[in-house]
Formats: sequence, C-alpha cells, structure tokens
Amino acid sequence: MGDTRLPLLAEAPTTYEPLLSWVEEVAELTKPERIHWVNGSEAEYRTLTDELVAAGTLTRLNPELFPNSFAAFSDPADVARVEEQTFICSENERDAGFTNNWMEPATMKGKLAELFDGSMRGRTMYVIPFVMGHLDAEDPKFGVEITDSAYVVASMRVMARIGTDVLERIEETGAFFVPALHSVGAPLEPGQEDVPWPCNPEKWIVHFPEERSIVSYGSGYGGNALLGKKCYALRIASVMARDEGWLAEHMLILKLTSPENRVYNVAAAFPSACGKTNLALLDPTIEGWKVETLGDDITWMRFGKDGELRAVNPEAGLFGVAPGTGWGTNPNAMRAIAKGNSIFTNVALTDDGGVWWEGMTEEVPTHLTDWQGNDWTPDSGRPAAHPNSRFCTPIDQIDMLAPEYFAPEGVEVHAILFGGRRKTTIPLVTQSRDWAQGIFYGATLSSETTAAAAGAVGVVRRDPMAMLPFIGYDAGDYLNHWVRVSAKANPARLPKIFLVNWFRRTREGGFAWPGFGDNARVLKWAIERIEGAADAVETPIGFVPTPASLDLTGLGMTEDEVQEAVRFDAEEWKAEVPGLEEWFERFGGSLPESLTAELESLKSRLA
Ligand code: GDP
Ligand code: PGA
Ligand code: MN
Repeated sequence: MGDTRLPLLAEAPTTYEPLLSWVEEVAELTKPERIHWVNGSEAEYRTLTDELVAAGTLTRLNPELFPNSFAAFSDPADVARVEEQTFICSENERDAGFTNNWMEPATMKGKLAELFDGSMRGRTMYVIPFVMGHLDAEDPKFGVEITDSAYVVASMRVMARIGTDVLERIEETGAFFVPALHSVGAPLEPGQEDVPWPCNPEKWIVHFPEERSIVSYGSGYGGNALLGKKCYALRIASVMARDEGWLAEHMLILKLTSPENRVYNVAAAFPSACGKTNLALLDPTIEGWKVETLGDDITWMRFGKDGELRAVNPEAGLFGVAPGTGWGTNPNAMRAIAKGNSIFTNVALTDDGGVWWEGMTEEVPTHLTDWQGNDWTPDSGRPAAHPNSRFCTPIDQIDMLAPEYFAPEGVEVHAILFGGRRKTTIPLVTQSRDWAQGIFYGATLSSETTAAAAGAVGVVRRDPMAMLPFIGYDAGDYLNHWVRVSAKANPARLPKIFLVNWFRRTREGGFAWPGFGDNARVLKWAIERIEGAADAVETPIGFVPTPASLDLTGLGMTEDEVQEAVRFDAEEWKAEVPGLEEWFERFGGSLPESLTAELESLKSRLA
C-alpha cells in the first residue's frame, strides 16, 4: 500500500488497487469516522445487530418465537421504492427511454458530489464485497456496496453472498465489480444523538449504465438501499444482459413435479406485490403435484448450448411483502420465517415479543404495538403493519427449496407466466398461440399499482414484463432484445407462454379465484397444455381453459363460478384496445415490428 493512502484505509484487508482507490475516493468525499470491511461472518453479524439494538434501530424479538430475529421501524416517509427519484443516467437521453427519468451524467454527478460531501460524518462506512449469483458461475457478477447503514449490511448478508470469499475472488481474478455507493444522507455532528432510522427527505436512486455503477442517497428502504437487488440485479444487469446476450428479469422461478415425476421449471413475471413470492413458495392444494422454490423475485436467463433457456436466481434471500403472508395462504414462507435469522421491517409487535401483520393468522391479536410504535387494537381503524412491510429471510431456510438452486448452471425453463393485478378483462389464464404472441403478452402487461412503490395505489398502468421500474435502458430496445436473443433458441425448446391474473373480481366485488395454493390448478393446466392433454377454448387473445379442463377437485366452486374467472370477455377486450394503441405509440418507433403486427392481428380478431 502506498504511503499516500488515507490513514482510514490502514486496516484494509485487500491490496486490490481498483477497490482501494474507489474506497479512498469515497472516504475522502463522505468523511466517515471509520471504515469497516465486511467479512460476512456470523460473529460480525452478531456485533452489528447488537449495535443496531443498542441504537434503537432494531428490536430483538423473543428468541423462543423468532430466534436470532429483529424488527426495524423506518421513518414513516421511507417505506417503499421511490420511482420518481430513480434515474438512469445514460450518456444519451434516448438510451434511457420514455419509461425512465434521465439526467445528463455530468450534471447528476455534480449534484451527487454535493450531497455526498461529508454525508457519512460521524458514522461508520461499511464496505461490502458481494456477488449476485454463484461465486462459481462461469462469469460471476461482482459488486461492492459502500454504505453508512448497518441495517443495510445486516440485510445484504441475508439477500446476497457477501464477505471475505467474495473479496478474495475479486482480487484473485482481477474482476470487474459494480461500485454501488449508498448513504442515508444523515451525517452526525459531534455530540449529536442519532435517530433509530436515519434518512434524508431528499432521495436519489441513480444508475450510470455505461459505467455500470450505482449511487443511492437518502433512503434506507430495501429496494432503494440493498443495491444488489433491484438496482444491480435488474437495472444494471439488464444493461449487461443486453450487451452480453442474456436476460435479467423480474421473475420468480419454481420447479414443478407432476404425479408422473415429470419436471417442469416455470418462471413468472409479476409486478411488485403481485404474488411472486407466494407463487414461488406455493403449497399445492391438488394431490400428487409438488412445487419446489428456485427464486422469488429475480431470474437471470440465457440460452444454453442446446438452444434451451436456462435460469438462475442471483439472490440468497427473500425480501417478501409481509401482509397477506400467513399460515393459511403461504405456510412454506411462514415455516422459513419461523426458523429465525430474519429482519422484519415495519411489521407490528405482539405483546410477547413476536411480530404480526394483517393476514398472518386468522385470529387477530387483541393488542399490538403498530409499525409506528402506537398501541393498536382491532378497532383502531388502521392497519397494524405497513402495507409494504417486509420479511427478510435466508432462502436456504425454505424447506421446499429445490436442490438446483445451488447449481451455477441453473435449470431449463419450460414455461413463462406473465401476470398482474387486474380487476377485469384479463382471464385467470390464457395460453399464447406462439412465442411472438407471448412476447406481446409481456410487452402489454398491465397491473394496478401497489404499496411497493411510493404514490397512488390501485391505478392501472402498463408494466412491460413487470420490468417498468427496472429496465435500465430504452424500453423498446429492451423488447427488441427479447426478440433478438430468442432467435438463438431451439424452437422446439422455447418455453410456452401464459398470461395469468389471480386478481380478477366478480360482479359482487370479491376475488373470482381463491388464488394461493389453488394456483397449482392453473400450473397443472399449463403443464397439461404443454403435454397436449388439456382442453381449451380458442379466443382472439389465445387459449383459455374450459371450466372442466381445470382440476377442480376439492375446490368448492361451481363450474359457473369458475367460468367467471376464466371467461374471455370480448367487450372488455374491445375497450382495452385504445389503451394498447396509446401504449405502443409511446415507444416512438423503437418497438419491434412483430409486436405492432401482433396488435393489428388482435384488433382484426376482435372486430
Ligand atoms: P411479490 O412482491 O410479487 O413477491 O408479491 P407477494 O407474493 O409478496 O404478494 C403480494 C401480495 O399479494 C400479498 O399481500 C399476497 O398475500 C397477495 N397475493 C399473492 N398471491 C395471491 C393470490 O393468488 N391471490 C390473492 N388474492 N392475493 C395474492
Ligand atoms: P418486490 O421488491 O416489491 O418486487 O418484492 C422489493 C422492493 O424493492 O420494493
Ligand atoms: Mn416478493
């Protein structure tokens, strides 16, 4: 190490120059009190969480109920991703496309340099080496996050592979790493007392796609601050994938085994808070079908040497929406959570030192401390847990985790589902006629907004491939990339594509389909379609099930009730067309021609 190094770097466990010089540059700018190089060990985790408990950021839960688990309560203004403040700063504005906020990189860097100047004063700066995907992958994707939040360090340890092994591998192989800089933007003056959840009213989540770098300021919330997740594994990875010929997608992936022991891997793209984690951990209500989890949020896919589509999950943990996750709806998630080692954010506390959220148990506790620290009773008239409260749990605590999760080469994908939250129009399940129509399903996917992002909830918006907030470049180029990479496929091994909607409503306003474990019936139908065994009705939008073609054993619904969930409604679809046309116009010519052709042929079939 040269003598010109900052004294703060004296303890650096590496001589890797690209890393040292970046860490030094950041330390000089942000002026932390000390630097901690994260090794990822259990002892380190214990120390960090002890400190977070002492600081009031974490509350230790009753170890008899939730061993080695903690609850965090955020600032009430820092509870979700902030899409308005999320930027793709490509060199040319055109490359960010109409779905992203853009600012000239130099202007943005100037702004960030001012904000980060002294932003870590009085705090520890943590350096977290991490890898998304497997350390033993053919082309491992490294990153280093610098953060001044110990909560972020503890959460990153659950969500990604971090620490000494990763640092050594980066150094040994001279690998590129994505520099990912995060600050809560709350420096401490000498003697100033800290708050439990430091953050800044001003928030910036910024990506420089050509440099492959990330800068996040002002928020401590997961999707804004755990930079390996949405920022790297989706926004930056989607750009890497475009340049390297693969796909980085907002998808769960599950392994389905039929009663005849045939294995099918199913990937599914749903927007945030639209059912990925629940489907990935599905507990089937039909006999003989087995589901195992591979991933619940992000899937990286590439076409293999035999033209098959192969998928891996780059993450190591679950960052799941707590409300609605319960012993009745998602027992597999509940069992994983009950093993402990979890960090909960913005859930409610029970009087015996456990956690609770809406939907966790059928019986509602008579008294709780709500996510804002107030007394809560069932007649308080407000939710006890924030609607976007989360559990953060190691993925290997899932009993039903598929062994292939650990395989760097991933699994072959046999079916892809696109889905969203729509009260009307979209049937329970529709099979596309072919791959091109399947891409059209993805390109025109729509969903009502949820609490996972700041802003209004329940507004229908187009969300292409469930990637609207996560495409790191021009949306039309992104759809073109899907068309182009899939041209490398073995046509016989292209996955079959389905459009699904667990959220359709009846005329009375209830859900038309019970969802959760009963979604196994839809998966079974999809597999039987692939095998050529299940009946379907051909409609202008593709093939929908006849009620009798779905396995309804033990469901307790009449065929008429099922018909309401699966029916194709020509009037609703005619009303949908102007919205589709407007959506395609917004791409301003960068859309693949095959998609414009699909829309024209849909219109003529509907006429
Ligand atoms: P993710 O953010 O896409 O992983 O979504 P989650 O699986 O965490 O689910 C988000 C919300 O949707 C939770 O409140 C779930 O209870 C609810 N949900 C998930 N699957 C279903 C379903 O099949 N039917 C209904 N009605 N709600 C569901
Ligand atoms: P999700 O992602 O909502 O897709 O689960 C978490 C987040 O970053 O908000
Ligand atoms: Mn999820």
